[in-house]
Amino acid sequence: TYVVTDNCIKCKYTDCVEVCPVDCFYEGENFLVIHPDECIDCGVCEPECPAEAIKPDTEPGLDKWLKINTEYATIWPNITVKKEPLPEAKDMDGETGKFEKYFS
Ligand code: SF4
Ligand code: F3S
Repeated sequence: TYVVTDNCIKCKYTDCVEVCPVDCFYEGENFLVIHPDECIDCGVCEPECPAEAIKPDTEPGLDKWLKINTEYATIWPNITVKKEPLPEAKDMDGETGKFEKYFS
């Protein structure tokens, strides 16, 4: 599966949702997640994210994000249509420690 990681937080560009053939993105206030059981590993969303926040879970060190994507995909509502990024998206792109401060 692919997973959404830290740099999506407080940016939420949502370009990713438009290209997913199986509509497996779910939306929180400041972050999106991918439903790991629904993702077919096509990879088309990865280059679409301006924040480079989408990664294959085969990359090392992503266990935490796989857990977060798995948990919140069953709680948050589905999102399939692109919307405006969060107003602070440009400033927050590349910030560190966003999970601790802004995850929601
Ligand atoms: Fe959707 Fe493909 Fe991205 Fe998985 S890899 S979330 S199926 S676009
Ligand atoms: Fe987040 Fe990137 Fe999608 S910032 S909403 S994963 S396009």
